[in-house]
Amino acid sequence: MKFKDTFLWGAAMAANQTEGGYGEGGKGISNTDVVTKGGKNKERFITYTLEDGSKMKTPLFHSKDIPDSAIFECFEDEEYPNHIAADFYHHCMEDIELMHELGLKAIRLSISWSRIFPNGIDETPNEEGLKFYEDIFCKLKEYNIEPIVTINHYEVPLKLTELWGSWKDRRTIDCFKRFCEAIFTRYKELVKYWITFNEINHIRIIPFMSAGVTKNDATTIANASHYELVAAASAVSLGKEINPDFKFGCMIGYTQSYPYSCNPADVYKNWKFMSHCYFYSDVQVRGYYPKYKLIEYTENGIDIDLTEEDIEILKGGTCDYVTFSYYSSGTQSADESMKNSGRGNMIDKGPKNPYLLESEWGWTIDPIGMKLALLELYDRYQKPLFIVENGLGAQDELVDGVVNDEYRIKYYQEHIRSIYEAIENDGVEVIGYTPWSFIDSISASTGESEKRYGFVYVDYSDADYKRYKKKSFHWYRKLISSSGASI
Ligand code: BG6
Repeated sequence: MKFKDTFLWGAAMAANQTEGGYGEGGKGISNTDVVTKGGKNKERFITYTLEDGSKMKTPLFHSKDIPDSAIFECFEDEEYPNHIAADFYHHCMEDIELMHELGLKAIRLSISWSRIFPNGIDETPNEEGLKFYEDIFCKLKEYNIEPIVTINHYEVPLKLTELWGSWKDRRTIDCFKRFCEAIFTRYKELVKYWITFNEINHIRIIPFMSAGVTKNDATTIANASHYELVAAASAVSLGKEINPDFKFGCMIGYTQSYPYSCNPADVYKNWKFMSHCYFYSDVQVRGYYPKYKLIEYTENGIDIDLTEEDIEILKGGTCDYVTFSYYSSGTQSADESMKNSGRGNMIDKGPKNPYLLESEWGWTIDPIGMKLALLELYDRYQKPLFIVENGLGAQDELVDGVVNDEYRIKYYQEHIRSIYEAIENDGVEVIGYTPWSFIDSISASTGESEKRYGFVYVDYSDADYKRYKKKSFHWYRKLISSSGASI
């Protein structure tokens, strides 16, 4: 097995889960800053106070509506893990040394919007924030590591939520455009690959974390999705004006899903499920709303604010490549009584698949699903694909400075073989692979540091958050240097 020399072997991370630096360097408060620590069997909550002073908590997943008058706050008796995360804010240069040692050709990372525009509505960007990422990009350039930059990875300045419900309101598009203009201009010579919104389709299950949205009704989600899609297309057009060499990708959270049985009702249910995910990439790749979605909205009495001007913006801002995350697969059954929402899980995975093993957090392990994802997406769009997240969350143990994460190596071996087969046997065009994650960080779904994914271990019990290279680090380094041959 040997991948092309141009293949971008990388790793991924996100500002809100890795960076920390809460309130430092002029950073404003983000939506994720008011989300509590959860765990394998413990929900994360959004915390806020009502006008009468009562303290409230709403579950992160499938959250109930939060009143418009809510004042978001951190409570003293709760933990907010994203405030420090893996402390990348203070360790970034040391961590880039590790990226270099790992031999990475690419690193996927995100820019914290509230580090650049603390309130989202500020007239001018925060210079300290811009400088922070500039230093990172310059260092990466020194080491020839290509940054793959997610403009928005589960992060919104909280002020926008307080002002008008964030993406619920069209005005957020202009705030986002101002943010894009600031970073595109500043990093014009340092960044080539951009990704607009991380897992844009997840607004349906985690509206607050994904988009700072506090309402969960179908019309709100449809319009917030629409404004994000218009913002993404506007970003593409704006970016290409600033630097025509910029490349833009859309990004979907891809759950390969199977009909639970060959009963046509299950097959149709599964098609419906997948269409909720494809809708977003359909718009971003093709530049217009698919008919199935418009009909669905009409049938359900959902009125979307789709203007003539939006239609033109969507058409003019299609993406150059398609990115996705892939961790596990699920099943769909038409029989509602078989529904299983899963434990501590972002994914509505449906009934248990008897053919697959699961991670400690109940996520199925399905390397064939990775191949199917590649085949289906390539067949649908005929655009280069980029796998920007894939990995195994596990409870790693540090013993005498060593983390023996053989299980993670096995997971990667199987998934990388699937990628190779899709490229070699089926002609799928894949730009690169940035597994999740470069370094341990805070789990998005459970808000804990115990669910680890990194090639680099973070000792959260150490005052300086000491880093250790896991066994998978050494394995991945060899794999990259041999273009896959040493698998
Ligand atoms: C993806 C997200 O859904 O999955 C990441 O883009 C996230 O932000 C990753 O961390 C793994 O999920 P989790 O919940 O285990 O952290």
